[in-house]
Amino acid sequence: MSSLAPRSDFPILLAHPGLRYLDSAATSQKPRAVLDAISAYYSEDNANPHRGAYELSVRATERYHAARERVARFCGVADADCLIFTRGTTEAINLVASAWGRANIRSGDEVIVTGMEHHANFVPWQQIAFEQDARFRICELTPDGRIDLDELRAMLGRHTRVVAFNHVSNALGTINPVREIAAIVRERSDALIVCDGAQGAPHIPVAFDSLDVDFYAFSGHKMCGPMGIGALIGRRGTLETMPPYQTGGDMIEFVLDYRTTWNVLPHKFEAGTPNVGDAVGLAAAADYLDGLGMDAVRAHELALVKLATTALGDVDGIHIYGPPPEDRSGVISFTLSDIHPHDLATILDGDGVCIRAGHHCAQPLMRRLGVAATARASFYIYNDEADIEALLGALHRARGLFGYAGV
Ligand SMILES: Cc1ncc(COP(=O)(O)O)c(C=O)c1O
Repeated sequence: MSSLAPRSDFPILLAHPGLRYLDSAATSQKPRAVLDAISAYYSEDNANPHRGAYELSVRATERYHAARERVARFCGVADADCLIFTRGTTEAINLVASAWGRANIRSGDEVIVTGMEHHANFVPWQQIAFEQDARFRICELTPDGRIDLDELRAMLGRHTRVVAFNHVSNALGTINPVREIAAIVRERSDALIVCDGAQGAPHIPVAFDSLDVDFYAFSGHKMCGPMGIGALIGRRGTLETMPPYQTGGDMIEFVLDYRTTWNVLPHKFEAGTPNVGDAVGLAAAADYLDGLGMDAVRAHELALVKLATTALGDVDGIHIYGPPPEDRSGVISFTLSDIHPHDLATILDGDGVCIRAGHHCAQPLMRRLGVAATARASFYIYNDEADIEALLGALHRARGLFGYAGV
């Protein structure tokens, strides 16, 4: 099985021909088209946007707006002004928790997250709940690593103010049924629904306008775009009525001596000089992924993860976490006998196989799994069957090194 995207599109894979990059859930590699778009922006169009009367600044402004429209189209958002550029998912969720949370969460309210959240969608809610004297609650998981929807149903009620959950778990790969969860929440509460799409948008077609969530957050660097850019998508009514997150230049309408009024969307939430170059890069990433087709991206990852799950399943002593491949994105989280995942990752690195080991910024989940850490291989568009074979070979070598060979 070959890769979906030509490996030759990715300069870093050409620079390291022996590399088996299986850590795209942490960050993806970047195609030449994205690197070229960023370079062309700085070579031809760079100026501070919005404020300039001269042509170059107008061009930079247009590039920034065009990038927003392109990324909005990628995510199925008709009203592009409801897509706020942020530094990434972490900043996007902090924006909601802080700006919306301070204005709307009150003593006695309940804030619900799940046991499979990345710290970026856990800690901001935990902290704002404590700050506002609200109750922080964690919806538990089923034994196969899904959100327990019966428990969620039972937790919801008139006190529920926020429900935050991920589209796809970074540590298990579980694909959560976003629309079904949103329907359950809406049936039983008026809660704000926040979806962490950091592992969703890069891997699965996303149509925000039909997801029925209030906010969706993602990071550009996990979807072939540059680091330092991502987005928060929200509903116009909610964004317009909530206070700004940061204050300063660009986000104001009038600054009076003792009062300030806010700019319109999206500027109200984008204080300071925007990251135009990376927005242009993210738009190029959207072009690149749409060129492959997001349905094809999902199908490719599913085929790889099925193949890898079968192959790894035959390795003695392996334990794979999470649901079956059909309900998982391109992530395989596992432990191998009593070999520490960090040792495993170091040994695999000796064979040029890059995997991640650790708690994956999901310590609450690790506690629920009863482990301190797992090893995680994650696949993307440039991976192929040879990557799986290399992973398998390296795992057998690791077993041998630890004296498990032939056991
Ligand atoms: C599910 C999930 N949420 C949030 C984040 C945080 O993303 P970022 O570090 O790009 O802000 C990650 C990153 O790994 C993630 O996997």
